Amino acid sequence: MESYYVTTPIYYVNDEPHLGHIYTTIAADVLARYQRQCGKDVFFLTGVDEHGQKVQQAAEAREIEPIELADQVVARYESLWPEFSISNDDFIRTSSERHKAGVQGMWRKLENAGTIYKDFYEDWYCVPCESYWTETQLKDAGRWEDKSCPDCKRAVEKIQEESYFFRLSAFQDRLVEHIKANPDFIQPTSRRNEVLSFVEGGLRDLSVSRTTFSWGVPVPGDEKHVIYVWIDALTNYISALGFPDKDINKHWPADVQLIGKDILRFHAVYWAAMLMAAELPLPKRIYAHGWWTVEGEKMSKSLGNALRPADLLKEYDADVLRYFLLREVPFGQDGDFSFTALKQRYNSELANDVGNLLNRSLAMLNKYSDGVLGEVNEEQDMDRALIADIEGMQMDVAQALDRQAFHLALERISVVVRHGNRYVEDNAPWALAKAGDDKRLATVLYHLVETLRLVAMQLTPFMPTKMSAMLSQIHGEEVNAEEMTAALHGGWGLLQAGHQCSRPQPIFPRMD
Ligand code: MSP
Repeated sequence: MESYYVTTPIYYVNDEPHLGHIYTTIAADVLARYQRQCGKDVFFLTGVDEHGQKVQQAAEAREIEPIELADQVVARYESLWPEFSISNDDFIRTSSERHKAGVQGMWRKLENAGTIYKDFYEDWYCVPCESYWTETQLKDAGRWEDKSCPDCKRAVEKIQEESYFFRLSAFQDRLVEHIKANPDFIQPTSRRNEVLSFVEGGLRDLSVSRTTFSWGVPVPGDEKHVIYVWIDALTNYISALGFPDKDINKHWPADVQLIGKDILRFHAVYWAAMLMAAELPLPKRIYAHGWWTVEGEKMSKSLGNALRPADLLKEYDADVLRYFLLREVPFGQDGDFSFTALKQRYNSELANDVGNLLNRSLAMLNKYSDGVLGEVNEEQDMDRALIADIEGMQMDVAQALDRQAFHLALERISVVVRHGNRYVEDNAPWALAKAGDDKRLATVLYHLVETLRLVAMQLTPFMPTKMSAMLSQIHGEEVNAEEMTAALHGGWGLLQAGHQCSRPQPIFPRMD
């Protein structure tokens, strides 16, 4: 069985889950579900990043131990994921023993490859980003006067301590070569170009240990050093697979690693160089998505406008949020979350288009033939055009999801739904019933129900619960959409004459 490995970043436990966290995780979930539907052996990993100075400080501020803070936030994630139908196969915690073994294993690999040396670090550090800055970098970014981080604009602090270094500079040429030879390695392309010029601009060795705090994985053989939190965190993608003790080849290299644009450098440069040093293959793709603003404003803890997924669920259905987040903004671009846009999209695409097609089709089927499908008689051009459109949709959705173009996949499905609604108007089943043309009526109703079924199959990775409800009405019995693979259920003509559908039950009532 072909394998498919998809990952999300692991989320810091100094903050509660917010919109950005659920966004990446939903995107990864859609890919995982789609690939499972296609029959692949999927491994979908998410988790939390528990170590580092930032988390230690957040715990100190609350006067609790870092692990207590981590446990509290992990509990939030554990209750949130099922509410959003997140189907992760594993959840990695960086405080776990298996992860610690992975990080120390990685350290030894880096050491054995001759890429680790001890020196003295004297420069600047941004705790919120957990990243290092030189004086020159701060000056170039115009951040020297107020000593703030070029990325997040918060205060940086001076560090002077003995530290281990990773010979990142030695990987510059290989990284450039790899990025150039593999155009798909970093996506979208604009981000790839940014990384390429960053690497071509020259890489400095990276300080990879700290001695001034203790919340992390100790350097093997030199326990007063804690391994730099990004070296620790990035290793999660393989520690979860059992590295270094188990064979990770079944799933590694990952097919796609989804991240936000702010953490691209850590993945495309540090992670890639670590893997090269450890003689492991690089992920096939790193995809950096854009950032959400909320009603036009940057989300921030200080503004208090961070959208909490758990709060959104009080008013909105999880599947509707899943749909909206992936439909509204092309993955890779920044976008704005607004409740007006959410309602508009819901009413036009889900209530008016999908909901309407489902309700009217099943209502007519029940009215004219007690919900039972009849024989298909003599297909006409209109019928063939509908089937061709569905087959086109299946191919286009596969291609779009292969490129993480979620919005294009959904747009393409919408085309078929609108086609279905036009097909109803063009064939006017009510007129066929009135004229007593039972043969044509049965053909038209059959085409409508098969269209609905295949649309629901395509929408299942995006809205698994809603689509289980839709497919249950079509199949006339409770079904679990998740278990329906494309190989068995994806082709036109599965439903047979005599098949009984249920009465329509609105799944997308209009929102006011
Ligand atoms: N712990 C690191 C990742 C380590 S991966 C080996 C981290 N954690 S985080 O919790 O701060 O951020 C996780 C993700 O949330 C990042 O991919 C980031 O891009 C994303 N987002 C944070 N705010 C966001 C928005 N406003 N919009 C979309 N995504 C956002 O970084």
